[in-house]
Formats: sequence, C-alpha cells, structure tokens
Amino acid sequence: MTNLECSLCKTEYAAGAIHNLCTCGGPLLVRYDLARAKANWSRDDVKRGPNTMWRYAPMLPVQAHENIVSLGEGMTPLLPAPRAGKRIGANNLWIKDEGLNPTASFKARGLSCALSMCVELGIRKIAIPSAGNAASASAAYAAAAGVECHIFMPKDVPQANFIECKAYGAHVTLVNGLISDCGKIVASRKEAEGWFEVSTLKEPYRIEGKKTMGYELAEQLNWELPDVIFYPTGGGVGLIGMWKAFAEMEALGWIGPKRPKMIAVQVEGCQPVVRAYQQGAQRSEFWNNASTVASGLRVPKPLGDFLVLEAVRQSGGTAIAVSDEELIDAGIQLAADEGMFVAPEGSACISALEKLLQSGFLRPDEKIVIYNTGAGLKYLEAYATRFPRTSSSEQDKLGGLITPR
Ligand SMILES: Cc1ncc(COP(=O)(O)O)c(C=O)c1O
Ligand SMILES: [Zn+2]
Repeated sequence: MTNLECSLCKTEYAAGAIHNLCTCGGPLLVRYDLARAKANWSRDDVKRGPNTMWRYAPMLPVQAHENIVSLGEGMTPLLPAPRAGKRIGANNLWIKDEGLNPTASFKARGLSCALSMCVELGIRKIAIPSAGNAASASAAYAAAAGVECHIFMPKDVPQANFIECKAYGAHVTLVNGLISDCGKIVASRKEAEGWFEVSTLKEPYRIEGKKTMGYELAEQLNWELPDVIFYPTGGGVGLIGMWKAFAEMEALGWIGPKRPKMIAVQVEGCQPVVRAYQQGAQRSEFWNNASTVASGLRVPKPLGDFLVLEAVRQSGGTAIAVSDEELIDAGIQLAADEGMFVAPEGSACISALEKLLQSGFLRPDEKIVIYNTGAGLKYLEAYATRFPRTSSSEQDKLGGLITPR
C-alpha cells in the first residue's frame, strides 16, 4: 500500500493514519505500488499462500503480518450448476458460494480486513450500521481482535443476525428504521463515544477485503474471467471491489483487458441503482419505504452508487430487479436442483439471470458466474413462509425435539 486516494476529487491521503471519508465527502480507495508488486510477486507465489483471502496479502492494506485477524475467510468454492443452468437455459453456469465464509456471508472478507486494520492502527472501539450480515461479521471479527463493537441494525433483521451479534458479545441496538437511520445514529454519536465508524465505504478497508472475491474468481478460472458476473447489489461494495481487483490484476500482468458484463441485481422493493441505471443518471435517489426479505439488499441510498453505475456501464452489463416471490421461488428450486441452499440475495441473481436470458440480453452459451453472498440457513424466517409448521403450544416450540419430555 502506498496511500489512499479520494474516488471523487483524487486528493491523496497517507497510509498508516486513521481516515474515514475525504473532506469532499468522497470514499477513499487504497492504492498500491503495482509496478513493485509486479516485479516481486507472481501468480505462482499466490498458490503457495494460505488457503484464505490473505493469500493476496501484497494487494491488501495490512503492513505487519501479525496484525491479521483471520477466521479462515475466502477461498470459497466455485461450483458448477448444471441442472439449474439447464432448467433456465444457461449452458455454462457457475456459483461462487460465499455462504461458506465465517459468519456465513461474504461480509467476513471485508470485516476481516477492517478489523485487521483496526489492530494495525490501534483502534479499540468500533461502531457499525448494518443491514444484518455485516453486523454478524463485525461482531465476530471484533471478538477475535479484542475490539469493542457497537452495532446498529434494523429491528426486523433476520433472527440469525441478532443472535450471532449477541453471542459474539457485541453491544447491539435494534433500530426502528433502515440501515440509513442506523447510519445517522452512529454518525451523531461516534465523536462523543470515541467510536471508529466502520460504515461501508466510509471506512476504506472493507472494500479491500471484498475485492478478493475478484482475485479468487480469476485464480479459480485459471486467470480467465467469465463473460458475465451477477452480483446482488445493496451498497454495491462487492461489485466495486471486484472491478478494482480486475484493474489491479491487469496492471500486475495477470489478466488481459477482457472484463465480464457486470450485472447489478436488486429487488423490486428497493431498487435505487436499477432506477438510476434506467434513467441514465450518475447517482441514485433515496428509495422510500424500502422492503424485501433479501435484507442485505435493503439499502435505500448506496454511498458508492456512482462507482457501481460506472462499473456496470463500462462493462456493458445492466441493472435489474426481481420480486421477493420470484427470488424465494428461485432459491427453493436451486436448492432442489443443486443441493445449494442460498441466501435470498443469491437466489435473486438466479431469477435475474432467467429474465436476461428470456429477453435475449444474454446468450445460453456465455460463461456466467453468480455470487451467492450468504447461506440460506441465515434466512429461515423468509424460507419458512413456504414451509410452515404448526405448533400447538409454546411448550411444543421449546421441547420435544431435543428435550425429552
Ligand atoms: C447476503 C448479502 N448479499 C449482498 C449484500 C449487499 O452487499 P454490497 O454492499 O456489496 O452490495 C449484503 C449486504 O448486507 C448481504 O448481506
Ligand atoms: Zn475528495
């Protein structure tokens, strides 16, 4: 790492100091000495690294190895999905299963990197507004780092997110509102409380962890990127991160100029990026009354919307929304077809793919990779709507199955 650079006004900031946003309000991006890395680090060296995302450590911001806070994140499998592909008319379909990360979502990558940087920079207290899974990952990595963690998330997050955060010992506040309301609370209290704010893109290192999804994909496909990537877009940080990773890998001489079409998938109940894309706008507008069972996509105004839109447009991709009904149907069908029980965010991509094949935007023979960003098991309330069970009494709920009666 050489320095940080504002994504809007290009002002440079020094490495080794604590930063949030640029003074102009733009998110800061980490820059590296790519020429030096190119001379000293090869694709073969990567293979000799650990079986986690930290195999890409030279392109991550942590300077001292002992500061790395790892729970085994990354190097998730890239699985073929032939039966699902055949059903919807995609002959070369792959799923990158991020549900196998610690805390069962891709958020582990970003928070492993962010908490490692907290250790490196001497930060002892963090606060995070979250749609749910980032909270779980923050709580886990903060516990592993010995850092105090304050979490603000909507009061109707999936039960799994709430219980995980409590179990990991975080200070949890359930907010009557959305992630945007949680963000306002953190921003207003952080100074008095001495919290470092770990909101997406207001903190410059989570994106660096997330970008490893792009490095891994290239490595797993023998340094040949696919034709199309589907990414469930809330804040859009995974998509922005992968786009950054592709540019870095090209500068390292690891891949050529070919880029996949980047497809940003949202839901009908919260689709600010899709709306902006359709209107040809550079920024999105706040989406009122956002609601969806795909809780990670309930982000009414992504801070990095302009970066998502730029990547989608440059890549020749598109942005598309699906309904909650469609994504739950797709999730259940995928589980039965492939033995993969994915998060609603991931299944939204299957449904979106079906639509883009039907419309002719994509062809059946294109190599398509879908990011399943989390495990279906974290969303039992959402899937239970299709598989209701009745219990006659409170006691039935608690006993019987595991407790002898
Ligand atoms: C399972 C899941 N998928 C996707 C997202 C959206 O992530 P991003 O901010 O990278 O768009 C989230 C965010 O909470 C999530 O939890
Ligand atoms: Zn700036």
